[in-house]
Amino acid sequence: MSMPAEKQTLTITKIKAHIGAEARGIDLREPVDEATRQRLYDAVVDNVALVIRDQTFTAAQFQAAGELFGELMEDQNRRYLAPGVPLVSTLSNRHKDSLGNQAKVNKTATWHTDHTNQEFPPNFTSLYPVALPDSGGGTGLCNMRAAYEALPDELRQRIDGMQTANTLISSARANIANPDILRDQQEAKAGPMIHPLVRTHPERGTKAIWFHKSKTERILGMEPAETQDFLTELLEVAMRPEFTYVHEYTLGDMLIVDNRSAMHKAGFDFDHSQHRLLYRLLVRGERPY
Ligand SMILES: [Fe+2]
Repeated sequence: MSMPAEKQTLTITKIKAHIGAEARGIDLREPVDEATRQRLYDAVVDNVALVIRDQTFTAAQFQAAGELFGELMEDQNRRYLAPGVPLVSTLSNRHKDSLGNQAKVNKTATWHTDHTNQEFPPNFTSLYPVALPDSGGGTGLCNMRAAYEALPDELRQRIDGMQTANTLISSARANIANPDILRDQQEAKAGPMIHPLVRTHPERGTKAIWFHKSKTERILGMEPAETQDFLTELLEVAMRPEFTYVHEYTLGDMLIVDNRSAMHKAGFDFDHSQHRLLYRLLVRGERPY
């Protein structure tokens, strides 16, 4: 009697104690049963970020894989979509703003969570590299749940009730912003979006420091410049090396991040004559509380 062909076995292992896990032995172009989908989902939520290795996606296949984690939402920047796949956008060091300027698109990265100017920011952000430089260009990640829990009591109590007013780009950073984003900001009809600075995870009940530094116009009760200084100092205290991980991509990696527990930062520490192109998708979220 012949044995059936050996099936791949999904394995999930931690990358660091406080952040990151990697999954191997699964091809997300194939159908995924519910128990397996739940294992992947829980691995993202429990570890803040999950790298699913060895995938081979077109933009449409990446979009379909993203739907395993929930309903997708549109990127609010509609300028750099993957052709024909409107829920997948592209991040590239070769994108230019409408003035033909490359630098400002790339070099103003701060620690953040995505789309905080919206009422319903994405639960998850997923990235998939299409072209990579020889080295560098990784995505920095921090477990903000662990960072919150490790804060000195006094500081934790101080930030617990704080609220942020969020816009597309904070006035404190307007002088270094991409002119397209500034124009979008001027044309935006909506007022600032108020969110908590400390967010409760709706599925786990844990709390995490949660903001987009460049989109925080102010913490309520503070001026914009004071707010930026406060957030910088908060990150300096909160982000310990053991809570952070820089994911240096290998082609085939699908990175998925639980935005409710993580902040992230793009890495521009690479040779910019080389191309770095990532696909990105966003999974719809609920109103933060
Ligand atoms: Fe981001």
